Amino acid sequence: MANTMHNKSILLGKRILLGISGGIAAYKAADLVRRLKDRGAEVRVILTPAASEFITPLTLQALSGNPVGQSLLDPAAEAAMGHIELARWADLILVAPASADVIARITHGMANDLLTTCILACAAPLAVAPAMNQQMYKNIATQNNLATLISREIHILGPAAGEQACGDVGPGRMLEPLQIVDAVIDIFANTAQASAENAKPLAGSSFVITAGPTREAIDPVRFISNHSSGKMGFALAQAAADLGATVTLISGPVQLTTPQGVRRIDVVTAEEMHQAALNEAQNHHIFIGCAAVADYRVAEVSTQKIKKTDDTDDMQLRLVKNPDIIASVAALTQNRPFTVGFAAETEQVEHYARLKLAKKNLNLICANDVSVPNQGFNADQNALTVYSATQVFQLPLQSKTALSNALISLIYEQFQHEKSH
Ligand code: C5P
Repeated sequence: MANTMHNKSILLGKRILLGISGGIAAYKAADLVRRLKDRGAEVRVILTPAASEFITPLTLQALSGNPVGQSLLDPAAEAAMGHIELARWADLILVAPASADVIARITHGMANDLLTTCILACAAPLAVAPAMNQQMYKNIATQNNLATLISREIHILGPAAGEQACGDVGPGRMLEPLQIVDAVIDIFANTAQASAENAKPLAGSSFVITAGPTREAIDPVRFISNHSSGKMGFALAQAAADLGATVTLISGPVQLTTPQGVRRIDVVTAEEMHQAALNEAQNHHIFIGCAAVADYRVAEVSTQKIKKTDDTDDMQLRLVKNPDIIASVAALTQNRPFTVGFAAETEQVEHYARLKLAKKNLNLICANDVSVPNQGFNADQNALTVYSATQVFQLPLQSKTALSNALISLIYEQFQHEKSH
């Protein structure tokens, strides 16, 4: 019940169909209705025929503020809110107490009274709070039925163990109303979280992301490179894919596994990355240049291992400029993607970031102060300031995963904004 503390208001306006089946614990259902209503839930009650031997519909009608359903074949009730309508109305069906009999009937998909018919007709989550004699509860038939319900992702609340109305001691007591309310809160909280996780707000959009360092050969065994781990670009690719985007990740040499659902193109040198980026950019909506591309490469790569010489203490390597990958993408005249760069700076961060934004013709630039220890390069955490030509966005220090989610959402928003203007 980890979520309960943080979700006190989650029942506000939630529509709970409470099914009460026959058993001595039915008297506690009256209190349960009150507690659910206290939390702001709307409650409608269905009594099974056996339940109405233990508690009167009038009590439950007064407490819930709604007519109580009792029969599938009651023309007046069906005219007011038919059983299918009732099943559609519910955000959750809660059966408390749930007798061994009603559990068996739910397990087998029976629809021989109003409650089981509504359960069968309802797409919302179902929770049952068993209440029965301990021997009935332990019976293999009941246990098998409960196992089946669990396998269908039906929530089983309790039961508690202790002294029973019949004098036995053991498991089978219904949970107390407040415990049931807490469990219901958890169900709604977990459902809300799961649906947020399943949401795919970026479905239909596509990203190309460059990541990691490039490696520029000196000879067959040596190269020039940098400390980029690729973590930021990989985390961005993961975040975009998780939000439903199509993602192509162009990666330099890194020690990272490909994020799930992401298409990966491996490259080594800046020239290879340049080629791959130009091949991909026009087929995607958004280009993010997260790679730490080597600015220079060796002009003449030796085909053989360069030997130390005894006669001189120094050696010269002539370097030539690599293509600026992101600037070439941003310069595309047809199907130019919304282009986002990174600026890793050690000083005058804003000044250099803004210069790059303008010079490379980017839509956004994410500035990274790499002079701060434990953030940015090779670290698991990072903070960013994102500049557009007219706006500034701060993303404070957080894990690269959390930062990536925030950044991808921001980039997508800005992309949408630009498209609509
Ligand atoms: O000029 P600077 O290297 O600081 O620019 C950083 C941004 O430009 C990053 O987005 C990086 O991925 C991109 N870049 C590039 N090709 C280069 C150099 C940098 O795409 N040759």
